[in-house]
Amino acid sequence: MSAKEFKKGLEVCAGSAFEIEIDAIATDKSISHRCAIFSLLSNKPSKIKNFLKAEDTLNSLGIAAALGAKAQWEGDTLTITPPSSLSEPDDVLDCGNSGTTIRLMSGFLSSIDGFFVLTGDKYLRRRPMKRVAEPLRSVGAKIDGRDGGNFAPLAIRGAKLDGITFDSKISSAQVKSALILAALNAKSPSVISEPELSRDHTERMLVGMGADIKVADKIYVSPMSKPLEPLNMSVPSDPSSAFFFAVAAAITEGAKVTLKNLTLNPTRVEAFVVLQKMGAKVEFVEKENVYEPIGDIIVEGAKLKAVEVSENISWLIDELPALSIAMAVAEGESVVKNAKELRVKESDRITTVMTNLRAFGIECEEFEDGYKIRGGELKSAHVTSFGDHRLAMSFAIASLKCGGKIDGFEAVSTSFPNFVQLLSKITQVREYEL
Ligand code: S3P
Repeated sequence: MSAKEFKKGLEVCAGSAFEIEIDAIATDKSISHRCAIFSLLSNKPSKIKNFLKAEDTLNSLGIAAALGAKAQWEGDTLTITPPSSLSEPDDVLDCGNSGTTIRLMSGFLSSIDGFFVLTGDKYLRRRPMKRVAEPLRSVGAKIDGRDGGNFAPLAIRGAKLDGITFDSKISSAQVKSALILAALNAKSPSVISEPELSRDHTERMLVGMGADIKVADKIYVSPMSKPLEPLNMSVPSDPSSAFFFAVAAAITEGAKVTLKNLTLNPTRVEAFVVLQKMGAKVEFVEKENVYEPIGDIIVEGAKLKAVEVSENISWLIDELPALSIAMAVAEGESVVKNAKELRVKESDRITTVMTNLRAFGIECEEFEDGYKIRGGELKSAHVTSFGDHRLAMSFAIASLKCGGKIDGFEAVSTSFPNFVQLLSKITQVREYEL
C-alpha cells in the first residue's frame, strides 16, 4: 500500500467582523535560516532570541549541528556555538521542504573543504538548483546532481573557489545569498548583481557581523580575513506569515488586526502596500531598528478594488497566493505579471492558486508569468494544499468568506506551526485526519 499523500485537513467556518491584536505571529523564516547558517562564520557563540521553531528553519539548524555546531535552548534564546573547525558529516544533509536551506548551504559548502550531499523532500527535489550550481561551477565548485546537475540530491566536493563576477538574470535572494556565502571564502574579491534588489537580510546581517561587503550599484564582497563577529539578535515576526491575517482583515468589512513586531524591511512589506492600493486601511508603525526596521502593521477591512501587480515582484513573491484571495473578493479584474518565479516555488503557484480559486467559484485566467482574477463571490469548496504551506493558509483565509476544507494542512508546519491556533481566535476551525 502506498503512503497517503496528505495526513491532515482543516475545516474553516465562515467568519464575521473581528478586532484582534496578534503578537504571536511566527518569527521570520528568512532571518532564522540566516542565523543558523551565518553563526558558522564566527568563532564565538551567537545568541538568537525567538529563532523560528518550524520545520524549515530547524532543518538549517540541524545541518549546522551536523557540521559540528552546538545548539542550546534556554527559554526563548538559542545559543549556537560554532565548532573550531567544521566537520565533514557522515550522512546526507536533509533540507526537507526548504529552498533557502539547500541553496544557501550549496554556496557555503562549495567553498569549504569536505564532501557533502544535500537533499530534501519530493517537492524540493523537483525545484531547480542550476540557478546556484551554474555560477558556483563557473568559479570552480564541484557540484553534481540529477538531470545534468539541476536537481537534488546535490553532491558537493568543497574547496576554495575563485572570486565570482556574476550578473544574475533573476532577482533571487537565495541565489544572491548562496554566492555571497561562497564569495566570503573565495581566493579573491567578488562582484554580484541582480536585476531588482531582492530581500536583503543577508547583506544587512553579514555587514552587522563585520563582513567586508559594500552594496552600491552591485554587491562587492571581499573574502573574510578572520572569523566574523557572532550574531546577537532577536528575530522579528515574519511579515509573510502576518500577511494571511492582514488579508483576513482586509476582506472582512468592519475587521481590524494589529500585527506586532514585524520586520518592516521594504523588501518584505510590499504586499501590504498593494493591499493599501486596493482600498484597505494599512498603517505602518516603526518602533526600532536592529539590522532592520521593526514595528507593527495595522490593517482594517474595506470594500476592495482590483489592482495590477507587475513591479517589485521579488518583494511580494511569497505573498502572492494570499494576495490572490484579496483579488478574488475585490471589485473588478486584477492582474499579476512578471511573476514566472511562482512556477518554481513549493508548488507551481500559478497553476495551484488558479485551480483552488476556480474550486471556490472564482473566474481566473492563467498566463506563463502570472494570472488574471475576476473578483466575485467565493463559494464553499474542498481543496488541497498541494503540499504547499502558503496555499494551505491562503485558502483557509478564503474560507472565512464562505466556509471551506483544505486537505494537506500539515504543510503549514514548515513556516507557521501556530497558524491554526491564531485562526481559531477569529473563526471556528476543525482539524481532521485523512
Ligand atoms: C527567500 C527568498 C525567496 C523567497 C523564499 C525565501 C530567502 O526565494 O521566495 O521564501 O530567505 O532568501 P527566491 O530567492 O527563490 O526568490
